Amino acid sequence: MISPESIEQVFEAARVEEVIGDFVQLKKAGSNFKGLSPFSDERSPSFMVSPVKQIWKDFSTGKGGNAVSFLMEHEHFTYPEAIKYLAKKYNIEVEETEQSNEQKEKANEKESLYLVSEFANTYFQKILHKTDQGKSIGLSYFKERGFTEETIKKFDLGYSLNEWQAFTDEALKQGYNIDYLGKTGLTIVKEDKRFDRFKGRVMFPIKSMSGRVLGFGGRILILDKKAAKYLNSPESDIYYKSKVLYGIYHAKKDIAKEDNCYLVEGYTDVIQFHQTGIKNVVSSSGTALTSDQIRLINRLTKNITVLFDGDAAGMRASLRGIDLILEQGMNVRVCTFPEGEDPDSFAKQNTLEELSLYLKDNAKDFIQFKASILFEESKNDPIKKADTVRDIVNSISKIPDRIKKEIYIQECARIMDISEEVLFTTLAQMDEKEFQEEAKKNKTEQKAFEVIKHEQPIKKVDVQYLLERKIIEILLLYGNKIEDFEDLVLKENKKGELDLEPVIHQAKVFEKVFLDLQDDEMEFTNPQFKTLYYTVIDALNQNPDFELKTFINSVDPAMTADITTILMEDERYALDDWKRMNIFPKEKMHSVAQLVSETILSLRCFLIDQKVKEFQQETLQNKTNVNRNILEEVKDYSGLKMLLSRKLNRVL
Ligand code: CTP
Ligand code: MN
Repeated sequence: MISPESIEQVFEAARVEEVIGDFVQLKKAGSNFKGLSPFSDERSPSFMVSPVKQIWKDFSTGKGGNAVSFLMEHEHFTYPEAIKYLAKKYNIEVEETEQSNEQKEKANEKESLYLVSEFANTYFQKILHKTDQGKSIGLSYFKERGFTEETIKKFDLGYSLNEWQAFTDEALKQGYNIDYLGKTGLTIVKEDKRFDRFKGRVMFPIKSMSGRVLGFGGRILILDKKAAKYLNSPESDIYYKSKVLYGIYHAKKDIAKEDNCYLVEGYTDVIQFHQTGIKNVVSSSGTALTSDQIRLINRLTKNITVLFDGDAAGMRASLRGIDLILEQGMNVRVCTFPEGEDPDSFAKQNTLEELSLYLKDNAKDFIQFKASILFEESKNDPIKKADTVRDIVNSISKIPDRIKKEIYIQECARIMDISEEVLFTTLAQMDEKEFQEEAKKNKTEQKAFEVIKHEQPIKKVDVQYLLERKIIEILLLYGNKIEDFEDLVLKENKKGELDLEPVIHQAKVFEKVFLDLQDDEMEFTNPQFKTLYYTVIDALNQNPDFELKTFINSVDPAMTADITTILMEDERYALDDWKRMNIFPKEKMHSVAQLVSETILSLRCFLIDQKVKEFQQETLQNKTNVNRNILEEVKDYSGLKMLLSRKLNRVL
């Protein structure tokens, strides 16, 4: 258990924009930040962060909350983990009591997989640095490869003893469950036998964007034709190969800062680049790049530079995978290394200046690069040339930006010595085919949509809904503020007529709202708002130091989605405007007291209108027998409405 004092300290220190900024590239937009949703695949930003309100909202999925809930959503942290992560980020010492055995068992399965992996990570490092075998075999191997002590520590490199179950035995002794050891693949369980998967290998832990250990890669040290050089953890509930990039945790800051990401093939390429001083580098660890992996990068930068080993065969195979990167609207450059070199060996032999210069001079635009290789390969073979034209145009067709497409067509026509017209026609044919396929797909989708439309007729603007929402927004943002309210009280003037007279009184915003609504015996019609209203009023009433960010954290997570929707609703419309015209919304200017009075009065007027309409309906239905009482009531209400409107005008 983390002490409440520590939790409070963490909340004091954490800034939602800084926390999210480590995962999503945020751009200033007025008083907010915006970025691409990390929860969906989108090209135009619908993800908002408000430094003022200290909340975030993802309009593409409806999710929202504070810094802690972001970490819980995005990193799948539990609450205590999120707190600990923030404590680490902000250098706050966390007081906590040790987990009991019972608590260990209760932690859910996924959590257990994380715990086992974390344990293994610590264990393998200990073996590397503290045992004779670790030092003489593992550590000396890393040193031979040129890794410094600092680098080895930074990447948590380790060693697994060359014994059948040394690791498994130790894990069991420490109370870790064999089920989880099996599920993470650290232990191979065969009937009643157990083996260490990574026996006798040096270990590379694979971490998530936030630094949690998800799995491992292990490199064999002896020459054995039967055994794989690298062995990786199998997929598990915490490790999806296609969604992980090796090195992303250590690279994310520099990728955003440099606005470029180097993509290499292997673990050692990443590590050697870091040691040389280039830190914006990740690896897909030997597998073909996936869309999910590209998405991880796309959140941090639009620019990617793919680095190829110096062997032509490997490069040809990888060219096709790059179309996936183009599809996500990223700018792709490629860079090859001299024959026989890979990024690891090249970085090892060169200084930072030399390496940087090499990359600068040799990184080429991907489309131009591909066009020139294909041209070289097919220049004397007309049939092959036709294929290559289709191949390159296919790549170009993946680029979402039309202007870029056009520029590339012109560029390729020049490189491949072919007319622009031919290329444009090929592009048009491909676009047409894609369009047909899209349309076919949409048709089915549209049918599904029509069913929904049929079931849910579109609502007119619901004034009551908007006003109820506004009231909650006011309570959340300003509930605790003390304001001067001008109340207009009905008084009889000298002529004996009713008139309004202003009286100023001080009150907390939430008290004013609560009392006014109570006076009117007003109940919220929207059930979510009703629950929220009483929860917020209750919190404000009980806690004189009410703060939005602590409040959001204390309520039921289901409620935070509602709360952030309310708080960010205005920004949502602003998003559209920015997209269209690149303008930023002005800050709202108003006094809080005015806003409160205006909203409550508007709601009253609305409710009176409703009443009058009800009476009119009744009168219409009883045409023959005009009910005197109803007429009287309507008259009364109309009078009241006029008074209120006058009041409202004064406030406005
Ligand atoms: N890889 C793998 N399994 C293999 C071979 C390779 O998972 N049997 C992955 C590893 O992530 C490796 C990357 O592919 O880092 C690149 O492979 P390779 O070029 O063979 O390895 P290097 O990184 O050059 O390895 P080393 O320098 O240690 O020989
Ligand atoms: Mn290598």
